[in-house]
Amino acid sequence: MPIVKTLFGVLFLFALSSSILAQKFDGLALTPPMGWNSWNKFGCDVDEKLIRETSDAIVASGMKAAGYEYVVIDDCWQGERDSLGFIRSDPKRFPSGMKALGDHIHSKGLKFGIYSDVGAKTCGGRPGSRGYEYQDAKTYASWGVDYLKYDWCNNEGLNAVGAYTTMRDALFSTGRPIVFSICEWGDNKPWEWAKNIGHLWRTTGDITHCWDCEENHGTWSSFGIMRILDKQKGLKIHAGPGRWNDPDMLEVGNGMTVSEDRAHFSMWAMLAAPLIAGNDVRSMSNETRETLSNKEVIAVNQDPLGAQGFPAVSEDGLEIWAKPLSNDAWAICFLNRSKETKDVNFNWKENLIKDDFAQKHLDAKKVTYKIRDLWSKRDMGTTEKPLRTVVPPHDVLMFRLTK
Ligand code: GLA
Repeated sequence: MPIVKTLFGVLFLFALSSSILAQKFDGLALTPPMGWNSWNKFGCDVDEKLIRETSDAIVASGMKAAGYEYVVIDDCWQGERDSLGFIRSDPKRFPSGMKALGDHIHSKGLKFGIYSDVGAKTCGGRPGSRGYEYQDAKTYASWGVDYLKYDWCNNEGLNAVGAYTTMRDALFSTGRPIVFSICEWGDNKPWEWAKNIGHLWRTTGDITHCWDCEENHGTWSSFGIMRILDKQKGLKIHAGPGRWNDPDMLEVGNGMTVSEDRAHFSMWAMLAAPLIAGNDVRSMSNETRETLSNKEVIAVNQDPLGAQGFPAVSEDGLEIWAKPLSNDAWAICFLNRSKETKDVNFNWKENLIKDDFAQKHLDAKKVTYKIRDLWSKRDMGTTEKPLRTVVPPHDVLMFRLTK
């Protein structure tokens, strides 16, 4: 039956070409995405005034100049679907509609991010995208959306790879480049399957603004900075340009001490994590603004090599993290997790630091590096002499070493 064979052949080719053609947008997140998201500070209390004022403040505060780009409205922007199934924003909170809001964000030179969920309902109980994936993607594209965070609540046992692939394909079919942020909390090890589906994937449950706590919410927990940090172990081999481990959004400015905020920000820079601020940028203190806008620390995070940092040496309660950078430079961060000030007496020459995955070595016996302190913004001599200093409790020292 040649006609049947031909038909099968055509169908096969069609299936093959659509699976080859459907993909994620490449080249969109060659360095970790930077921006702001409403959730950590505002939860469901979002409206268009907040988003407009926040966009304005990101520009006025210098955060845009420091690299923050995406303004992401998290859960609870949604109203009901209309009679044709199109999702609409909450008419009370977003009376001007999402297109107008996106236009305002774009007029500031920023990009527009939005949130949805694989289930029929989001975590906040609003309409999710299940069964409406292509229709929602089209709607987002028509609003000028540039970034979608896609959550995992009410998934009813869906296959994660399938659910996230469906939305990836839906986004791709719109032709509008949209960063796809997978928020599946690390439940199904997305680092093993998501690199061709999304640009970043959450590796853990939700973050909260404490140094080392776990908050129990009944069916789920949120975790402090050190807890989240410890959950990144072994994941560095999965990260690189266009594919990032996401240890969740920043809590800088949300209630920890200045030292803790500085340590949190430094470690997220070392991890090549997305830097998504989560505080009220309209009313932040100078200290918070300075922490979030430290361009030399941000340059470590945004380094084009895209290597994730790792704990290289552990000495007397101090963790010494290393991150290879382009041009054979290195970022080194001394993290003091304890409540006591720690003395540092670190002989660079006695500590060979190796990143086998990135194939980089820091060998101060062979090469002398210049040292720059990225928080005090001072040059500190070279690796010829041991480093003698102190690290305050819950704080860091962060350096860039260049040849
Ligand atoms: C989940 C996510 C959070 C946030 C909320 C919104 O908990 O992990 O980041 O998006 O849902 O309801």
